Amino acid sequence: MTAFVKVLPSGHEFILEGRSTLLEAGLRAGLALEYGCSNGNCGKCLARLVSGDVQKARHHDFRISEQQKINGHMLLCCNTTDSDVVIEAREASSAHEITQQHLTARVRDIRIVSDDVALLHLKTPRTQRLRFMAGQHVMLGGNDLPQAHYSVASCPCDDMNLHFQVPRSEQDAFSEIVFGDLKKGEKVDVTGPGGEFVLDEESPRSPVFIAWQTGFAPIRSLIEHAMSLEVVESISLVWIARNKDHRYLDNLCRSWNDALDDFSYVPVDADVRQDYLDIINVLTRQLGIGPDDLPDHDFFIAGNSGLLDHCQKALSANGLPVEQLFTDSLIHA
Ligand code: FES
Repeated sequence: MTAFVKVLPSGHEFILEGRSTLLEAGLRAGLALEYGCSNGNCGKCLARLVSGDVQKARHHDFRISEQQKINGHMLLCCNTTDSDVVIEAREASSAHEITQQHLTARVRDIRIVSDDVALLHLKTPRTQRLRFMAGQHVMLGGNDLPQAHYSVASCPCDDMNLHFQVPRSEQDAFSEIVFGDLKKGEKVDVTGPGGEFVLDEESPRSPVFIAWQTGFAPIRSLIEHAMSLEVVESISLVWIARNKDHRYLDNLCRSWNDALDDFSYVPVDADVRQDYLDIINVLTRQLGIGPDDLPDHDFFIAGNSGLLDHCQKALSANGLPVEQLFTDSLIHA
């Protein structure tokens, strides 16, 4: 069963398959729909059916008034459809519109993937998920745990499973706990989201992502989000690390490169803290993006201040407009 859903006033469209709720299908398609509990309690996903029919997928405790029902109001998290519909729903158009949340998740898995990086998987309660935009960060810890900020390294479309790439650092007590005592099932508080390192979804330009080591965390979230948006024509990724071992998800990037026609992945060995890195040369020779092509792309760069300074200067000197450059230095690099 496949249905087309059009959202007003944005004009966004997505496909709903099977018995997914309107909310689940919209999030999977990369839309930043307004919602809270995902469970029929808070009413934040209240939307209006403009045309077509919906069917109730689950019971809800949130009370919709008789007048609202007459006007076509229904909850996106509790309704599905088997035919084409037009709905009027609230969507965030910028990171500022996502409200701060505080929730307690549990450790689902910790995987040490190199001598100084751990992949941390947290699972939220079904009734208290994290609404965020790809590329944003949160604060982990609190109560008995030290606190630290990390970028969410997963897609907002899977809001119960939050993934993080934690670099080990003596200055970051939370990371020492991840590499030491933190166990599966333990509670971790999550507060956020924050940050404006998000895609410009109205941009007609193709994105180029540049990551330094664990700067790959927000970049992975952005790439997975960009993949879910059908408007993105091509995606380029440059992952710079001291050596191959520090590109701890190299296989994932290669699988994107192999599976997707319009995806290009370039691994680069360099230590941006010491070495000279000719990013223009990398872009030109390995991605075919010369100085004349820069205005056709948006650049998303996540890494330490050395990488950000270097790339900013090089790209600006070659004519990249400043509004096409997005940077994130919120990592322990
Ligand atoms: S998200 Fe809370 S009622 Fe739908």
